[in-house]
Amino acid sequence: MSRLIIISNRVSAPKGSMSGAQGGLAVALQAALRESGGIWFGWSGEYTDQFTGQINFQRNEGVTTATVDLEEQDIEEYYNGYANRTLWPLFHYRIDLAEYERDFAGGYQRTNERFADTVRPLIEEEDVIWIQDYHMFPLGAELRKRGFNNRMGFFLHIPWPPRRLLTTLPEAHELVASMFAYDVIGFHTQEWLESFCDFARIELGATLEGDGVVRLGDRTVQLLNCPIGIDSQDFTKMTNSDVAAATFDQMRKSAVDRAMIVGVDRLDYSKGLEERFNGYERFLEENPEQRKEQFLLQIAPPSRAAVDSYQRIRARLEAMSGHINGAYADLDWVPIRYVNQGYPRDVLAGVYRAARIGLVTPLRDGMNLVAKEFVAAQDPEDPGVLILSRFAGAAAQMPTALLVNPLSAEEIADAISQALVMPLKERIERWKPLYDNVMEEDVSWWRERFTAALMPEGQLQRQEH
Ligand code: G6P
Repeated sequence: MSRLIIISNRVSAPKGSMSGAQGGLAVALQAALRESGGIWFGWSGEYTDQFTGQINFQRNEGVTTATVDLEEQDIEEYYNGYANRTLWPLFHYRIDLAEYERDFAGGYQRTNERFADTVRPLIEEEDVIWIQDYHMFPLGAELRKRGFNNRMGFFLHIPWPPRRLLTTLPEAHELVASMFAYDVIGFHTQEWLESFCDFARIELGATLEGDGVVRLGDRTVQLLNCPIGIDSQDFTKMTNSDVAAATFDQMRKSAVDRAMIVGVDRLDYSKGLEERFNGYERFLEENPEQRKEQFLLQIAPPSRAAVDSYQRIRARLEAMSGHINGAYADLDWVPIRYVNQGYPRDVLAGVYRAARIGLVTPLRDGMNLVAKEFVAAQDPEDPGVLILSRFAGAAAQMPTALLVNPLSAEEIADAISQALVMPLKERIERWKPLYDNVMEEDVSWWRERFTAALMPEGQLQRQEH
């Protein structure tokens, strides 16, 4: 029987913690580990003057976390640098924002080696290792170098960029070649999977062996299209909680019979917030008769504030919301409520339920779990409408949402206008298949599908907690 060892940069998310600010990943992993036992290893989020590799263990709601502090230079070069100034923009198709610096690449490699050295004593022979996201592409190869033959999987939670974009990264070849240390690599969509495959085949000369198996030299990797979901049972509980009910009442009261449009995103340029505000302004301009029947609540907790592209987007959004409110507000109405803080998930569940429209328009997104939480929180008798970017991974599972091109202000404006007058019957017809999908393909479904591929013959140890 094997234990599951999950490794990711960010380790957190006890129940009821802020959502939006941390992204859905940490919340999803918490749920996955709660069900299967095992250890969750990663960065503590803290600085130390001198890296020691000392592990801090905690037991939190059935999950054992093991975290390590990093030096300031590691955080600068690995987290703020390579992960968030290089890979994040590049993998979200923004080479205009990507910074290619050898120091970042060096710090990224060094920090991954430090993670490998630190986690080493925790790993036993039968353990199955599952590494998450773009902070840790080379970690599997580093563990293999240290003699580990365990089954090892990797999951990418962001898009995989088209081959031609990825070739702009100086270290692209060695980075992708290092991923052949894994036995299984998971993606949220077939599109990201195929882009990975294109790069491996055309740039590295890897060969396809059928059924998603790719070979490079003597290593084969199983590629898996495996979309992540929300913890649907837990979220349903939150939706039915007293806090959600109180928030629902509060929001309805403060809306005074106006329809609420809601957006909840980390303050990140990939989320398409500027384009969303442009689309919203276009809607206001073109639909004077609908104007005062609605308002937009945009919740955008700041994220990665040390990175200047994030400081710039924050300043631009402040200016845009100020401009739109200045141009359109009236004595008794303000079009945009722009909020820069995160809220607990039970509060958000109440906000979603009170909304007529969920506006989720990232320019690129690996998956987007806000879209799924919005759907899960709706009243089945009177559901709201999801407006969703066709460039979010979630769109592949959510064809009955109102799908828009997030770069087109006109498409966003038209979708808002259409959603505001959509008859109840159509709202239900669109919402129901989305809801069924969110409930069925939830986080347990995701975890089981991935771990089944990672351990074809074995079973995970079930721990008592
Ligand atoms: C995305 C990434 C996650 C990350 C999260 C929050 O969802 O895929 O790996 O944890 O954003 O970002 P942060 O930099 O605060 O961890």
